[in-house]
Amino acid sequence: MTVDQVGIANLPNQRFKIVSKEGATFTLMVAGESGLGKSTFVNTLFQSTLKTPVDNKARYKRGIHATVEIEVTRAELEERNFKIRLNIIDTPGFGDNVNNKDSWQPIVDFIDDQHDSMMKQEQQPARGDKKDLRVHACLYFIRPTGHSLKPLDIEVMKKLGTRCNLIPIIAKADTLAQKEMNEFKSRIRQVIEAQDIRIYTPPIELDDQASSDHAKSLIESMPFSVIGSGEDEIEVAPGQFVKGRQYPWGIAEVENEDHCDFKKLRSLLLRTNMLDLILSTQELHYESYRTLKLESAETGSKRSRRLHNPKFKEEEEALKKYFTEQVKAEELRFKQWEQNIVTERHRLNKDLEEVQATIKDLEEQVKRIQLGKK
Ligand code: GTP
Repeated sequence: MTVDQVGIANLPNQRFKIVSKEGATFTLMVAGESGLGKSTFVNTLFQSTLKTPVDNKARYKRGIHATVEIEVTRAELEERNFKIRLNIIDTPGFGDNVNNKDSWQPIVDFIDDQHDSMMKQEQQPARGDKKDLRVHACLYFIRPTGHSLKPLDIEVMKKLGTRCNLIPIIAKADTLAQKEMNEFKSRIRQVIEAQDIRIYTPPIELDDQASSDHAKSLIESMPFSVIGSGEDEIEVAPGQFVKGRQYPWGIAEVENEDHCDFKKLRSLLLRTNMLDLILSTQELHYESYRTLKLESAETGSKRSRRLHNPKFKEEEEALKKYFTEQVKAEELRFKQWEQNIVTERHRLNKDLEEVQATIKDLEEQVKRIQLGKK
């Protein structure tokens, strides 16, 4: 498959050298609720039928749940003799079940497993060709409700954002008016910030002003709104075709920037930021995973070493003895204190009885005096 302007050839020289030796592997994941147009979007992005989308009506009529397990599709892009091995990971849509955790947990596990597999391969003595399916970008599809993010979205996005470059997407942009879309975007941005969800942000400190400005405009448009279309293009004028969705009121065009952010997203993924996505996966997400894994392995092995070392065993016994004695001493102190309270109460009761007897005496004396007076 050949796609014009894939982008690697446009990269700054230094970074270009890093990848040009062996070409590049780029892994893109799509995730989100079912029926939001993930498969359709993949086909629109690569201008080819890589995935077979299932029509909503058909799926409900026939009980079809389009993507039922994690599917990996491989393709090769080529630009001026430069090859990109492309992996597209389509995930089952979720949100239909009572317990949705069952449907999104495998997605999170899949990302972790790829980091894990890379760690294991790096530990092998012969570090030849590696099988690398680490996710460089995960497009998270948000339902175009016009309200805000759902608790389920927040939960899943939090998990994904700490594991890979998460790019939130508003699906089916043709179903919202421009004003509704702007308000929806701003509410989503607020929730992302308030909930501390980590999303991918293109770097803006770049060598030239034009690239910096482009990166800023990408950030301002996030979360990107997209429209997915079928393979057939629509003829808008004799001999002039566009990708889009035809409605009685007009055409929602995929590549029209007034209709959605498809072009910006395609540029980010396949041109300006592909290498940054690849490198940040290695330098940020993979390294964090590796450090965490090594640290927990270290803590685990230290604990087990301590448990099996006779010297630590003696120390542990001595500590146990010390604490048992401390507890016993405290118990004794508490018992004595309790005893003191009992004794004191006895004394107070006695005093009270004496006072009551004196009062009784005095009352009788008063009575006698009063009788004597009469
Ligand atoms: P799962 O595999 O179940 O997760 O579904 P999916 O997210 O892959 O959705 P799919 O691509 O199968 O599309 C579902 C339906 O939505 C199809 O009928 C598509 O034609 C339709 N669809 C896809 N993209 C758009 C869009 O941008 N706008 C509108 N209005 N409909 C769309």
